[in-house]
Amino acid sequence: MRYGHFDDGRREYVITRPDTPLPWINYLGSEAYFGIISNTAGGYSFYRDARLRRLTRYRYNNVPFDLGGRYLYLRDSASGDFWSPSWQPTQSELEDYECRHGMGYSAISSCRNGIEAETLYFVPLGENLEIWRMRVTNKRDGEAKLSLFSAVEFCLWDAQDDQTNFQRNFSTGQVEVEGSVIYHKTEYRERRDHFAYFACSEPLAGFDTQRDTFLGAYKGWDSPAAVERGESFDSVAHGWAPCGSHHVELTLAPGESKEVIFVLGYWENPDEAKFDPPGSQTVSKKPVAPVIERYLRSDEVESAYQGLRDYWSRLLGILQVQTPDEHTNRMVNIWNAYQCMVTFNMSRSASFYESGIGRGMGFRDSNQDLLGFVHMVPERARERILDIAATQLPTGGAYHQYQPLTKRGNDAVGSGFNDDPAWLILGAAAYLKETADLSILDEPVTYDNEPGTESPLYEHLQRSLRYTLDRLGPHELPLIGRADWNDCLNLNCFSTTPGESFQTTENKEGGVAESVFIGGLFVLAAEELAQIAGLRGQTDEAKVYRADGAKMDTVVREHGWDGEWFRRAYDYFGDVVGSAKNEEGSIFIEPQGMCILAGIGLDDGKAEKALDSVSDKLATKHGIVLQQPAFTHYYVNLGEISSYPPGYKENAGVFCHTNPWIMIAEAIIGRGDAAFDYYQRINPSSREDISELHRCEPYVYPQMIAGKDAASFGEAKNSWLSGTAAWNFVAVSQWILGVRAEYGGLRIDPCLPKEWERFEATRRFRGATYQISVSKPKGVCKGVAQVTVDGKKIEGNLIAPQPAGAEVVVEVTMG
Ligand code: BGC
Ligand code: NOJ
Repeated sequence: MRYGHFDDGRREYVITRPDTPLPWINYLGSEAYFGIISNTAGGYSFYRDARLRRLTRYRYNNVPFDLGGRYLYLRDSASGDFWSPSWQPTQSELEDYECRHGMGYSAISSCRNGIEAETLYFVPLGENLEIWRMRVTNKRDGEAKLSLFSAVEFCLWDAQDDQTNFQRNFSTGQVEVEGSVIYHKTEYRERRDHFAYFACSEPLAGFDTQRDTFLGAYKGWDSPAAVERGESFDSVAHGWAPCGSHHVELTLAPGESKEVIFVLGYWENPDEAKFDPPGSQTVSKKPVAPVIERYLRSDEVESAYQGLRDYWSRLLGILQVQTPDEHTNRMVNIWNAYQCMVTFNMSRSASFYESGIGRGMGFRDSNQDLLGFVHMVPERARERILDIAATQLPTGGAYHQYQPLTKRGNDAVGSGFNDDPAWLILGAAAYLKETADLSILDEPVTYDNEPGTESPLYEHLQRSLRYTLDRLGPHELPLIGRADWNDCLNLNCFSTTPGESFQTTENKEGGVAESVFIGGLFVLAAEELAQIAGLRGQTDEAKVYRADGAKMDTVVREHGWDGEWFRRAYDYFGDVVGSAKNEEGSIFIEPQGMCILAGIGLDDGKAEKALDSVSDKLATKHGIVLQQPAFTHYYVNLGEISSYPPGYKENAGVFCHTNPWIMIAEAIIGRGDAAFDYYQRINPSSREDISELHRCEPYVYPQMIAGKDAASFGEAKNSWLSGTAAWNFVAVSQWILGVRAEYGGLRIDPCLPKEWERFEATRRFRGATYQISVSKPKGVCKGVAQVTVDGKKIEGNLIAPQPAGAEVVVEVTMG
């Protein structure tokens, strides 16, 4: 069953009923000001950091779902009937409800009793504000007298404190109202130099800023007292819960439309010029006034919206494909690329499942996200790499995350995950392959954000690799530390205290837990660093890295191979994990993917065998589960992985992030049907028809789909913020379609399903445009017989970089 449909021409998903199984959300903003918005206008906004600079409130895990948002109410003065044109929060019956989630904007429209309303929400490029443009049309035969009310609830900036520290916060709230603008200025009187504003393009009939006056005591957002009676209270918040509500009266002749624009934004004044007049306590509004004025104008709003659309056309235009499969096309061309940009901006901080308080920018997560967006915004990838590296510890180790506002690393979600450093090498390599900008390697970068500790980025990469080599266990495999990619395989934790975090609790000393996965990752990273060293002319160093990699490869084959698949780890006591010897958790997906990506076992049949085992034991119709058999009880020596009921999350869920590793591995060994089959099993667009089971948005990947051991097999959770986005993009674009940036140019090396006969792609790469067509006359899945560039045959399938501005025609014949 579907709840809407794709409109690929407009790059939108169109939701046609408001009661989706879960709120289906979208993101507003692409630089510093962001928001999440659901299909019923739920969500919240923040400046840079969802925890430290939150503008509006949202009630996570609320009943009913999804409360707190960008709300508008219409009220018919004649009948007193009032409703929310976005359905929430009044949940009144609507005709023609539609929510169009697009690239950086959402538009929600509906009609009730002949009154049509459409609201477009977006953040203009380069601004720290969001626009709600509402158009109300009277489709009745007679005149309509209406009241329009807006409503947001302000968050007192620090989202964590806002939800916990009521003894203080009920006394700090402050606002100012001037003309049609409401200013939220809590704590501006003391140490903050920033405020929020909520402006309206129309003269006001009234306003409210005290939430409980606007709503009425014991009443909810579904029936605010002001809306019910059709008149604001003109309340000015002093403490309690400041909100922002405008009241606009509209009289519309039959057929008449009226546009009302609201602007919600964030502003910082220089510390020494906060007040106007100086010495007063009144917010200085002069600097922000022209910005507000500008975006309350219809023509400016329209051109900012067009600017946003052009921006996305430009970004998405960097890679466009035409394949025989519409799901592939729309994911590669639109939604998967878009999701990659969102994970770039958010890491794992703010979604319907991530509260914006719990996690910031993950070290390993952000490095992997980079793989999916580096071709679109390479200059921002550069900045991101430098930000991440600046939090690295002098040992080469890493905090697990940093806070976007301060860019400082912190161990709130743990540290000492021994895979973290290696991902920095992979992130940097992806950037270098895309751009050939070797200068980044010489950028001075701090350790632990400490000024004075700078060393070139290249040294950070060296220390990353060294970090693993300095921490080898009894089998010469890498020690796992707190955990590796699988945050929940906690082999040194031994937690028996309820509620204790598996990621931050003190590890038991003296263990020898080793990770085969990090072994594979190390082999991959060592080769990447060797290539980078080679580019710098450091050939001796490159040799050393290659030798380190080769040694680890041997160790993995020796101690990491179980006979039919790669083992997962050795635990604290040196006992094997992920082996046929284990009754539960005898095979894990991660080492199969990572070892093959690193090239281990390609020459001796191990890779093929491992992939056969995956197909045999882990693959399901809803994707490949993380391990089997699922853990049926808690294993204190394995940790959080066994805390989840079977089939969920890391305990044998389809942890989507790992599936593309298998797709890539299949593509590496040339099994195009298998690679594509796995791809389409978790492709959200291919799953649109089972939305009632899948439940999450059909336009973006979720982190997890419940596995076969779960009661709700096939149900997705944790949409949007997951390494799944980047890795699926890599799998389909670089390995299945095979269009891959390398140091020496653009490689075209597809591995396609047998029945495909051709596909086309346009790729912009280092300033030139490649019009690529691939034909597959013979039915082979892999192997390129001939490549021509502008009609001239070249050797092999690596196209040397073309001059910037050039547009070349590339014809590839497989066979
Ligand atoms: C989740 C993991 C996540 C970790 C983050 C765990 O509870 O299951 O997926 O990586 O928290 O700290
Ligand atoms: C989600 C986390 O963000 C990621 O870092 C981790 O690798 C996976 N969960 C697996 O635990």
